[in-house]
Amino acid sequence: MNILAIESSCDETAAAVVRDGREIVSSVVATQIEEHRLYGGVVPEIASRRHCESIYAVVDEAIAKAEMTLGDIDAIGVTYAPGLVGALLVGVNFAKGLAFAANKPLIPVHHIRGHIAANYLAHKDLEPPYMCLVASGGNSLIVKVNGYTDFEIIGQTVDDAAGEAFDKSARAMGFPYPGGAFIEKAAKTGDAAKYKLPKPHTANPFDFSFSGLKTAVINLIHNTEQRGETLDINSLAACFQKTVSEILTDKFVGAARENDCKKIALAGGVAANGGLRAALQTAADKNGMTLFIPPISLCGDNAAMIGSQAFYEYQSGKTAKTDLNAYATMRLDKVIW
Ligand code: KG4
Repeated sequence: MNILAIESSCDETAAAVVRDGREIVSSVVATQIEEHRLYGGVVPEIASRRHCESIYAVVDEAIAKAEMTLGDIDAIGVTYAPGLVGALLVGVNFAKGLAFAANKPLIPVHHIRGHIAANYLAHKDLEPPYMCLVASGGNSLIVKVNGYTDFEIIGQTVDDAAGEAFDKSARAMGFPYPGGAFIEKAAKTGDAAKYKLPKPHTANPFDFSFSGLKTAVINLIHNTEQRGETLDINSLAACFQKTVSEILTDKFVGAARENDCKKIALAGGVAANGGLRAALQTAADKNGMTLFIPPISLCGDNAAMIGSQAFYEYQSGKTAKTDLNAYATMRLDKVIW
């Protein structure tokens, strides 16, 4: 089954053709990051306008790169939640129009379910049940994946998401938006033991809290400046990355152990972080767990992951009509459409 997938939840306009949920036939991602960087973060109205301008060309290119015509496409999958509503609506409406005109089934896909499904494209042998850590710009979740469309939330952030903590701390350190990759680069030459950063406690041991850590970074920068001392930014980046990686790894592996789960996976934009990938691999080896991680190209927002999840949503009977709407927030274990 060939699914044409469309993703426009934030600042990437993306389209892909995915075969049987596991094979990327083509994948096109048009990023708007350079423009949003001028403002230090994503400007929703600009995002919607850029999606409007590029969605036709991106979808056209994905079909052309797959060496197909619309006639070869069996269904259309689209991200409809969660995300920036104005941005989502562009993809949803485009997909609705295309599905209606070409008389193809329309499959609504939850963005975070898509991030998790990126692992199916990279690891053909991965099947539920397993446990997944989702760390992206807007979400931090520990999820028990009981089936392809059956999810249980074990832990989540009570304030900032991991990527948000990276971006806000990076901004305080003077790096451009989005700051995660800049922190990783700076951390490579820093001393990860130089500064002590806090690991906030949460009532549920598997929930996350990152806002205190972000505030500690900001306070450390201000206090150092006020004392007239020079801050070692690379070491601060290294300490921050190490602390976030340890928090994510300890809680995730702890949750997997408590749930007797030996198969674990990582997903989301922050999954691109080398420090986190290494820390998780070490913890997985120590605990006799098998770790699945998508390649960096599939960690950030893309449509191939949406095409993969769309296949499994379709198999479970999920299709939408022309009244499909977009939603800014939605739990991944309780989807509506
Ligand atoms: O998954 P994603 O592309 O968008 C959402 O669906 O939220 O994640 C974007 C997030 C940003 O916060 C970005 O700073 C972070 O992923 N990120 C990284 C790295 N690359 C991207 N964080 C840490 N290290 C990286 N190498």
